Amino acid sequence: MKVYYSLAVAALLFACTESKKANEPLSGVLGDSAMVVSAHPLASQVGVDIMKKGGNAVDAAIATQLTLSVAFPAAGNIGGGGFMVIRLKDGSTATLDFREKAPAAATTNMYLDDKGEVIPDLSLKGHLASGVPGSVDGMIEAHKKYGSLPWKELVQPAIDIAKNGVVLTAREALWFNQAKENLEKFNSVKPQFLIRELWKEGDTIKWLAMAATLERIRDQGRAGFYEGKTAEDLVAEMKRGKGLITLEDLKNYKSTWREPIIANYKGHKIISMPPSSSGGICLLQLLKSIEPYPLTEWGFHSVKAIHLMTEAERRVFADRAKFLGDPDFFKVPVTEMLSKQYITERMSNFNPEKATLSSEVKSGNIAGYQSEETTHFSVVDPQGNAVAVTTTLNGWFGSFVVVDGSGFFMNNEMDDFSMKPGVPNMYGAIGGRANKIEPNKRMLSAMSPTIIEKDGKLFMVVGSPGGTKIITGVFQTIVNVIDFNMTMQEAVNAKRLHSQWLPDAILPEKGALSEKDSLTLANMGHKFTYIKGTGFGRVDAILVRKDGKLEGAGDYTRGDDKAIGY
Ligand code: GLY
Repeated sequence: MKVYYSLAVAALLFACTESKKANEPLSGVLGDSAMVVSAHPLASQVGVDIMKKGGNAVDAAIATQLTLSVAFPAAGNIGGGGFMVIRLKDGSTATLDFREKAPAAATTNMYLDDKGEVIPDLSLKGHLASGVPGSVDGMIEAHKKYGSLPWKELVQPAIDIAKNGVVLTAREALWFNQAKENLEKFNSVKPQFLIRELWKEGDTIKWLAMAATLERIRDQGRAGFYEGKTAEDLVAEMKRGKGLITLEDLKNYKSTWREPIIANYKGHKIISMPPSSSGGICLLQLLKSIEPYPLTEWGFHSVKAIHLMTEAERRVFADRAKFLGDPDFFKVPVTEMLSKQYITERMSNFNPEKATLSSEVKSGNIAGYQSEETTHFSVVDPQGNAVAVTTTLNGWFGSFVVVDGSGFFMNNEMDDFSMKPGVPNMYGAIGGRANKIEPNKRMLSAMSPTIIEKDGKLFMVVGSPGGTKIITGVFQTIVNVIDFNMTMQEAVNAKRLHSQWLPDAILPEKGALSEKDSLTLANMGHKFTYIKGTGFGRVDAILVRKDGKLEGAGDYTRGDDKAIGY
């Protein structure tokens, strides 16, 4: 990654400009009654099959989550955690926090050396990087409260897929090959799937140990993961690598139902995830910050719109670093941060002509940049219930540790804590007291599963992976539909830009900006960071169109994501 500050270089960067295709709108997959959009076609299909058997959106979400743990194991998981946002057909809403927790033996300085410096990679790779997993408890809680089909029927498809094997796409084979060195280094007992040399498109991986673990979860529910053989395998694995998770930690893990974060944006009711994710608050702060401005008139990716959105992002991410952490440990000033007065005050020094230096933007006055390696899916069922789930191991394949005997990947979520105030984690996120490591505390997330309502009816289900780029990716996708009148698929495919308070730069996807516009923005004081790769995040979303049809949009230009509906 290279940072470019000069006008001349900024001009060279964006020689490739993508213009919106003329005339006909690009549509995603259309359905009359139900839709699942996820990172893997098998997972989307399982969700749809569950609804065809009479299951509701929560049933479909549970089956999709479990299937992703075998079909998309780099991020789909049972060894990680996540967040679920639910809107039922009667308009009632709920959110479930199944984020991992720090083990009871975790300490604030556990990743620092004797001199108080962060020890590289300790929070990222290997056994010590893992928090206590929340996904299985989360799925069981969701089923207890909202499920309609028997639990066993929701787990069985993942078991069948794990036993039959998953055929790798070219992208997935590459991910496995890229991770091979770390997978070998951090697993003293070689997982069965690592026995071959290199993977290629079309190869099949069977997840047999994982299938047996899923069978225990199917038959024993929570105890099939948090107690008995699975828990004992997990703790034995931790001991092999000096990890901290104990049988007690597993027994004590509980997911938590929380009140959603809700605010209006231009006549739309936005329902999103509260802390321990920063996603909902940041998303709503961003939308409220830009609401007074005529974005539709300015146009998609106009200099004015990019400048405004960047300046809002700068301010919101400065607040995130100071005020956001696990609400069970730190009083997050949610109401204040979303108040009109506070947002107006935060934007009061917005200069339409000039970029603000991030060094001049401090967090506001009230008394952490992360990876792509998460996954999101959106579900709508024939009754009109909707579910948005974002779930992760944090890094691709998490900590790279596979629990011997039980065959699943462990997360490296501890890196989402602030290791040391003011020191960025691997992805550049800064944090402080609010997000310091404490026993049994949840690390701050950026995951932003979101459901939007218009005129009292379901309008959109949306979310993305991408660390802090989750927030800005979901933000832009929503604005693309509401302000720039795009179809769901156009909004998902549209090139994205990202900025956060620190580093002080705009990160554009390749082709997001014309040479002319990048020069204008550079003249206004904006700096650019150019990142190689396929793009930011993978937004998987569903829009209820004016004609009542569901438009499912998988982010197929950036991943293998797929919408399936009927
Ligand atoms: N691990 C990425 C996030 O929770 O935001």
